[in-house]
Parts: sequence; structure tokens; C-alpha cells
Amino acid sequence: MKKIGVLTSGGDSPGMNAAIRAVVRKAIYHGLEVAGIFHGYQGLIDGNIKPLERGDVGDIIQRGGTMLYSARCLEFKEEAGQLKAIEQLRAHEIDGLVVIGGDGSYRGAKALTKRGIPCVGVPGTIDNDIAGTDYTIGFDTALNTVIEAIDKIRDTATSHDRSFIIEVMGRDAGDLALWAGLAGGAETILIPEEPHDLEDMAERLKRGRDRGKKHSIIIVAEGVMSGQDLQVKLLEMGIETRVSVLGHIQRGGSPTARDRVLASQMGAKAVELLLQNNGGKAVGMRNHEIVAHDFEEVFEESPEFDNEMYKLSKELSI
Ligand code: F6P
Repeated sequence: MKKIGVLTSGGDSPGMNAAIRAVVRKAIYHGLEVAGIFHGYQGLIDGNIKPLERGDVGDIIQRGGTMLYSARCLEFKEEAGQLKAIEQLRAHEIDGLVVIGGDGSYRGAKALTKRGIPCVGVPGTIDNDIAGTDYTIGFDTALNTVIEAIDKIRDTATSHDRSFIIEVMGRDAGDLALWAGLAGGAETILIPEEPHDLEDMAERLKRGRDRGKKHSIIIVAEGVMSGQDLQVKLLEMGIETRVSVLGHIQRGGSPTARDRVLASQMGAKAVELLLQNNGGKAVGMRNHEIVAHDFEEVFEESPEFDNEMYKLSKELSI
């Protein structure tokens, strides 16, 4: 292995830059050349590729977003797109590739590995929805962003005796909503992994009001329903709420120390795997250790969901 490529793909997440930096520096440390592929798989197909030196990744560890830009690429899902990508990799003499992204990005990496270019996946997504890793890069930062928002909304909710619905991202996963709900002291948390009973929830809110608790925070994961839909349903049951959709602010911002460290460890591990010619793997963190699993295992397993944490959130929100 003489030269490796690195790209970011799918929704960006804070800490992707720290991962890029780790890949570039670790590779150079071990005598490899590095090519940066811009705009994800689309950039790979189009040959949007430039060499990266150690100085090119200076001053980025603290920045949100991704200096390589990101994209969701439909063309790459087809065989023709993948063959064009392989042609570009060969033309640029790239022997291995690090793909930083989520589940969809891993599927692309697996396809390229099958076509002869060893690829390693690094989990970059705020959703924390990838099997084989306890945490994904960006989750911790997004979580802190959500908590900051909850704290601010709680101030005004208390002043006005109001109930607020806060819609949180996460695609089909409820981790961001659950962790934020627990850390933010939410009265109710709705997540896709657990069934919900809106009538029971409305009753609890009413009972709370009768006891004198006039404000409350309801966290709803986008994978359950939108904040607006929930607002309409609750109004039909006599509960008035305000809605706040946090949206893409959850994807931005300077990464937390935890995300920077995780990204550095994972980016370095990806390079180690390529140096061992050990492609077709996804890097993860399990029980505080950096590990790697075959892509296949990651696709077959469902991301772990912490039932105990959900139970605790219910016990503490009585
Ligand atoms: O996967 C990250 C994520 O932010 C999800 O939480 C969300 O559902 C989705 O991406 C939004 O995608 P887009 O930025 O394309 O609207």
C-alpha cells in the first residue's frame, strides 16, 4: 500500500474533520501518500481528487462540518457509477480508501472493496445508529447541542407555564432523543424503539397540571412523528403545546473533546487496518476499546438500543 484516499459521505457530523486529520497524519507518519476526495462518492466519480499533506489538515480539529465536503450520491449506487469510481481510483494510483460516514456510505465502501479496492469505514453520523460501535463521531456534540436547546426552552416554558414539544433528529434511531431527554430532564420522551400511548401521555400531563406542575418538555424523535403532528394530536386531547424543531443546528458546531478524541482514534485505526491490507471493515468503539468488524456483520446486526436507559428515563420523569 503506497497511497490511500479519504472521503466523507452522507450527512456531515461534528468531528469528521478530526477524523480526516487523523487519517492524513497517521498515513504520512507511516510513509503513505494521501489523496483527499472532495464531495463524497460524487467527487470520486468526477475525479475531484487532490493530494493532502500534513499542513492541509492543520487548524481543522476544532471545526464542525467537513473540509472534504459531503454528498449523498445516487449515481454511485449503480454499477456504472461504481466502475467509474474504480477507474478514478486506479488512475490516481489509490490503493485503499477510508470512508467516513453512516450506513449508506458503508454500503458504497463494501461495493468498492468487492471490486478490488480495500476500504475501511469510520462511523461519522450524529444519529448513533451504526451496529458494532457504542458511539458514532458527532453524536456527543449533537447531544450537547440538543441539551443546550432544551435548557433554553425550559426557561421560557417555566416562565409561561407552557408545555413544549422538541423535535430531535436521528432518522430511524432514538438515541439522540433518549440521551438528550434524560440529560435534559424531559417529562416525556418518544422514540421509535419503544411503543407510545398518547392518551396515557395526555393524562399524565393533565395530572401534572392538577398537581401544580404547569410546564413540561416532551422530546419526540423525528423517527416517531413530526413535532407538528404530535402537537395536533395532543390538541385534540385538550393539551396545548408549543413546538420547536431543532433541525440542522444539531449537525453543526465545534466538536466536543469526546468526539475529537474518538475521531482521532478511529481515523488512526482505519489507516492501521489498510496498512495491514485488512479492508472491508468498519471501525467502532466497544467497551472503551477501538475495534473493527466486517461490513457484513455491521449490516446484519441492528444497532444496540439501551432499554435500561429508557426505563430509567421513565422512572426519573414521574
Ligand atoms: O443522518 C443524519 C441526519 O441529520 C438525520 O438525523 C436526518 O434525518 C437526516 O440526516 C437529514 O438529512 P438532510 O440533511 O439530507 O436533510
